[in-house]
Amino acid sequence: MNQIDLAGRTMVVTGGARGIGYAIAERLVQSGAKVALWDLLGEEAEASARTLANGSIACAVNVADAASVDAAARRTREAFGRIDGLVNGAGITGPVKPLADYSVDEWRSVVEVNLTGTFNCCRAVVPVMQENNYGRIVNIASVAGKEGNPNLAAYSAAKAGIIGLTKSLGKELAKTGIAVNCITPTTAKTPILEQLTPEFIEYMRVRIPRDRFAELSEIAAMVAWLLSEENSFTTAATFDLSGGRTTY
Ligand SMILES: NC(=O)c1ccc[n+]([C@@H]2O[C@H](COP(=O)([O-])OP(=O)(O)OC[C@H]3O[C@@H](n4cnc5c(N)ncnc54)[C@H](O)[C@@H]3O)[C@@H](O)[C@H]2O)c1
Repeated sequence: MNQIDLAGRTMVVTGGARGIGYAIAERLVQSGAKVALWDLLGEEAEASARTLANGSIACAVNVADAASVDAAARRTREAFGRIDGLVNGAGITGPVKPLADYSVDEWRSVVEVNLTGTFNCCRAVVPVMQENNYGRIVNIASVAGKEGNPNLAAYSAAKAGIIGLTKSLGKELAKTGIAVNCITPTTAKTPILEQLTPEFIEYMRVRIPRDRFAELSEIAAMVAWLLSEENSFTTAATFDLSGGRTTY
């Protein structure tokens, strides 16, 4: 494992109680950072923060609710004094079914958690980063946002929206010390797969030229570097983690 220097840095990871978010938080703590886990699963986030140690904290947050996000940002700012990094990882896939069978509420909840949640967290944290003219943001989109997966229209649209938000905010902040990038992973084994069907997971697997799913440590390694001071030039970009599926 390469050494990435995040000593003294403070990071927020949404969706950090488990899965990809937790794997990223673990790598950040191993690199010297203090992490705030923001998650709907408050108790799981508390337990995960205790395991991570190194001054890590947990906040029970619904990223789709701007007031809840603002409160978590205030609490984290008070606890850490500053916020150097933000990973927007909280997400849900929604059901796998044809667009015409989606209820308006199902559509809304997928877009509100994934896309509006990313907006809410950037909106709350960017001003805290601006206090020090320093920050690194990584939004977790998906290969679904580049390719569009059938029977997953809300998720694909929300993840494409995150890519667009990243490009826009990255350019908006390009003359400052804040970098904004996103990643587009293919399938990785986490509890989110319980929201999908076996047929859908197989649809994803056969499209990966590497012929395997992404390892959580592989995703965490890329994100840790994107959150480091060394990532001082690249912004508004989309980093691929699709094992060769999307070469753009
Ligand atoms: N696992 C994959 O195959 C895969 C592939 C590409 C992208 N992603 C993306 O990676 C991110 C993490 O996914 P994962 O696989 O670790 O899934 P996961 O279900 O294991 O973790 C998601 C976390 O987000 C939290 N969360 C959900 N809704 C929330 C809300 N409204 N407010 C706060 N927290 C909320 C959950 O409680 C959970 O802890 C998601 O954005 C997902 O879309 C996952």
